[in-house]
Amino acid sequence: MADAMADDKGFMMQNYGRAPMVLARGDGAWVWDTEGKRYLDFLAGISVLNIGHAHPAVAAAVREQVGLISHTSNLYYNEYQPALGKRLVELSFPGRAFFCNSGTEANEAAIKLARKRAAKAGHPERFEVISFTNSFHGRTYGSLAATAEPHYQEGFGPMPEGFKVLPFNDLGAVREAVGPATAAIIVEPIQGEGGVHPADAAFLRGLREIADKQDICLIFDEIQCGLGRAGALFAHQRYGVQPDVMTLAKALGGGLPIGAVIGRGQWGDVLKPGDHGTTFGGGPLVCAAALATLDVLVGEDLPARAERMGAVLVEELKKGLAGVSAVREIRAIGLMIGIELDFPGRELVEQCRAQGLLINCTAGNVIRLLPPLVIDEAQARQGAAIVSAVIAGAAKERRSA
Ligand SMILES: Cc1ncc(COP(=O)(O)O)c(C=O)c1O
Repeated sequence: MADAMADDKGFMMQNYGRAPMVLARGDGAWVWDTEGKRYLDFLAGISVLNIGHAHPAVAAAVREQVGLISHTSNLYYNEYQPALGKRLVELSFPGRAFFCNSGTEANEAAIKLARKRAAKAGHPERFEVISFTNSFHGRTYGSLAATAEPHYQEGFGPMPEGFKVLPFNDLGAVREAVGPATAAIIVEPIQGEGGVHPADAAFLRGLREIADKQDICLIFDEIQCGLGRAGALFAHQRYGVQPDVMTLAKALGGGLPIGAVIGRGQWGDVLKPGDHGTTFGGGPLVCAAALATLDVLVGEDLPARAERMGAVLVEELKKGLAGVSAVREIRAIGLMIGIELDFPGRELVEQCRAQGLLINCTAGNVIRLLPPLVIDEAQARQGAAIVSAVIAGAAKERRSA
């Protein structure tokens, strides 16, 4: 452990604020550090290990595929890429898929697709992308420009042109802002990094109407809230509102890096050979892993489990935090849970870790829980008990200070 941390200090760019621990292995909702200490993982690699760590089905698929062929480039077909596209389309809506390597790349591709379609229709002046306050869409320039929080952009300017940020859940603002220059609206159905803020159903329905009326591409970024976490395989299914384009990443590869863009109907036909691409995207190794991951998610009905376990967790949290006035709100959809405090939550992350629970804090004062969807009731109760005790203890200390 000392070596990894010393080498990181000496040789790695210091762009992460890491906890002083080295993770060595995982199993389901458990992870172990190199010293053998076990933790209940209520962060799941930031919503990546939805089917749990080291799932045997993914491990087997990867092991087999890596010994056959791990990379083909996109100059040739591989067996798994089209199969994964078919599976995702069948599970979401009729259309076509494109695969890349991360969430931010998926959003880049979605934005490019929206602009390309406008240009092909003879409207190159339609390039504007609308996004919302509190959103997070990634770190590359297009996604970063759509990411509204200034601290992500600071020092990296100028941002690319053609991005406009509007207040989240404010349909009136969207109605006023859209016009002949609008190519796309990008929104997280449930904002993750921004502090677990679900969109109002009426807001998403309204965006759908506006996009239909004005021929605007409606992009749902389901990179964090998709793939079962929100109690439905895709968050938009829960809302009953279909996007034109959906972006996925994080949990899709069961721990391996993959991003996906699904274009509904005509939106799947926009890109032609040479318009967009990637060397690694859609390789046989990650696609085999993603197919195995989807089999587990769907086969074991993990979205329904997320809903059930989410309810257990929230009930326990409510019990444990009753009367703690420092808790402003508990927001939860499935197993995407945010506990908003009236004080900064950073230190609480450390305190939970000391007690064997991994969580994080986002937006400064929101304790965020994103456990694997495979957790059982005992784990849900155990995690909730630690979080509640830590929050209640910190709130008490602040009152007496
Ligand atoms: C909603 C959302 N979109 C996009 C991204 C960016 O994904 P990646 O880090 O894989 O580029 C994230 C990452 O946290 C996210 O939560």
